[in-house]
Amino acid sequence: MMTIDLEQLLSRMSRQDKLAQLQILWRRDPQEARALARRGIGALFWPQSAAATNDLQRVAVKESPHGVPLLIGLDVVHGQFTIFPTPLAQAASFDPAVAESDARVSAAEARSTGVNWTFSPMVDVTRDPRWGRVVEGFGEDPHVASVFGAAKVRGYQGKSMRAPDAIAACLKHFVGYGAAEAGRDYNTTDMSRQRLRETYLEPFRVGIEAGAASVMAAFNALNGTPMHAHRRLLTDVLAGEYGSTGPVVGDAEGVAQLVPHGIAEDEAAAIRAALIAGVDIVMGGADLTADGSTLVPADGLDDDRLDDAVLRVLRLKKALGLFENPYVDEGTEASGPTPETLSAAREAAERCVVLLRNEGDLLPLDGSRRRILLTGPYATSTDHLGAWVQHFAAGAGTLDEALRAAVPEAEWTTLPGADMLDRSGDAIAEAVAAAAECDVAVVAVGEPSLLSGEAASRADIRLPGEQAELIRALAGAGIPVIVLLATGRPLVVEDWIEQADAVLLTWHLGTQGPEAIARVVSGAVAPGGRVPMTFPRAVGQIPIHHDHLRTGRPARTGGSLAGKAWDVGLQGPNNTDDTYTSKFLDLPLGARFEFGHGLSYTSFAVEDVAVDRGSVSLAELRDGTRLTLRARLRNTGERAGDDVVFAYLADPVASVARPVRRLVGFRRETVAAGGVVDVAFEIDATEIGFFDDEERFVLEPGAIELTVEDGTSSATVLITVTG
Ligand code: NOJ
Repeated sequence: MMTIDLEQLLSRMSRQDKLAQLQILWRRDPQEARALARRGIGALFWPQSAAATNDLQRVAVKESPHGVPLLIGLDVVHGQFTIFPTPLAQAASFDPAVAESDARVSAAEARSTGVNWTFSPMVDVTRDPRWGRVVEGFGEDPHVASVFGAAKVRGYQGKSMRAPDAIAACLKHFVGYGAAEAGRDYNTTDMSRQRLRETYLEPFRVGIEAGAASVMAAFNALNGTPMHAHRRLLTDVLAGEYGSTGPVVGDAEGVAQLVPHGIAEDEAAAIRAALIAGVDIVMGGADLTADGSTLVPADGLDDDRLDDAVLRVLRLKKALGLFENPYVDEGTEASGPTPETLSAAREAAERCVVLLRNEGDLLPLDGSRRRILLTGPYATSTDHLGAWVQHFAAGAGTLDEALRAAVPEAEWTTLPGADMLDRSGDAIAEAVAAAAECDVAVVAVGEPSLLSGEAASRADIRLPGEQAELIRALAGAGIPVIVLLATGRPLVVEDWIEQADAVLLTWHLGTQGPEAIARVVSGAVAPGGRVPMTFPRAVGQIPIHHDHLRTGRPARTGGSLAGKAWDVGLQGPNNTDDTYTSKFLDLPLGARFEFGHGLSYTSFAVEDVAVDRGSVSLAELRDGTRLTLRARLRNTGERAGDDVVFAYLADPVASVARPVRRLVGFRRETVAAGGVVDVAFEIDATEIGFFDDEERFVLEPGAIELTVEDGTSSATVLITVTG
């Protein structure tokens, strides 16, 4: 195997050659792309075939000044051809193998076409469902985002990125993008350093530990500093503390946007500021080395930083094996799904479905309900792929086809019922009339894919159009109503949820979505997904998440608009009954569906929760001692099913207020009818300690509560951390 000496290569490069390596551009015109490759640009967006990629690599290797091969980037977020469930849906599986399987298939398909670098996974924690990009991440919990992000990294990169079925991953968006104020995309983020460390940085720390090859900077400013110019976080924390050795790529035009952010006078100053801060590759923007001159002024950007940036790019190319073989085999280029990739996508999709509600065990559909009305805009829609797919993605079929195939003995009547976004005319009345002749209604409603993803924030996150009205009208028609709910985000469902007898949360599940949903409806598969992001009762509750900090006045009951005393002052200091607690006057207590909510076709109980030791010292924790928390999960029902058990930690007295609970582990298990499965969680200093507001990691003596629960039962054990 030929090994390239990168230092030597670097020493031969001019400043202009080096800067050229630090940019990724997209050119539709092949001649323009070739010209960039010839000049020695570091990276290009995928030119859409293996042959076109090989052509660009040939130009780069044979005609550019130093023959350096290209990084070829593409957003392969949840599939290239075979589309898997959206990342948020994948998180609902609480099974990281789902994310790994998506990433393995994605990497194999993508690399075969010449892509060697994906801009995924997005590990932004997000607690605001108005933000459209919630669909691209793993929800509100930093532990879930960390576990799923690491699984995606392993899946994309495989054992070696040289392999013909592996690509480089990119953790994004560093950092805090998911905390955009008001959930408005690209907006400012402002937060305590404690929250930054524990919630928003954590998935990046874990992703780097898992070997992520690159990181993308975020569009937002954090505490006043745009992330593309945030030297402390990009250089001191990401590179220094976390030890990230791969390149940091700017987001699309994100470097140039330091100008409208108001921290750079012009694009040249913006590029300089970004490179100094620790961005290594500029995405888009003006051509860094146009006309033989460099756009970046020589002053301010020292040679060491420039060389460091170039070496990060070159090392990644080396790790991808591009210096040995920059080409892909055009004979084995993928152009669509195979039976194997389709069955992987279907199995993944089946694991993501969440049973939100099931009054009277209406689901799975039983044979006595022979006449079925299928209605709602999703009944005949093929919009199942979700945000972030490209035009060459393999499309999905319809629920109409899939349900009829899965339950062929029923008599199906399919009617539109309502428009996805608009007014529905007579369609609702027609559906209600048809219901009179049917035993059950299946109403397939949802938020279309285009309403989530980038630049798709919504201020009102209820079902669009008149879909809620359709559900209510059918509920009034006197037959049971099953709702299939497609969405890219948690929705506010108050205006219909209690009128639906059963509700399956079906997200956007990808190429095999309808088949997976049909198998859950028919009972061929038991639903085992759980909600990875809180469903609020009202937009006014946002941001809302399960692991909120304690307050001095936690509420025990919901609010009420009636009966509040107005002469508060006369009550003196004693006004601490439940009136004066943290809640909304016009809402019941808590969320509609809490993080972790999800039902099953069977029932479970958590038993025998125990920890292997009752106390641990600070010194032992610092030395890496782990505790083992164990529990037994029993299927108390009559059919096999999947349950998710969660391990939570609480620190009731500490030097700073700690979350009411913090997720430290989860397991999804399949348990036979009447059977048991034992689960164990390892807990160490990382979980027991915390960050203070100076970003110092603190371990303190005192009691720690460890709880194992599955949504229906739970038990808590105590341990003592001794000084
Ligand atoms: C902008 C998005 O924010 C980022 O996630 C994506 O990777 C780039 N565009 C490239 O498509």
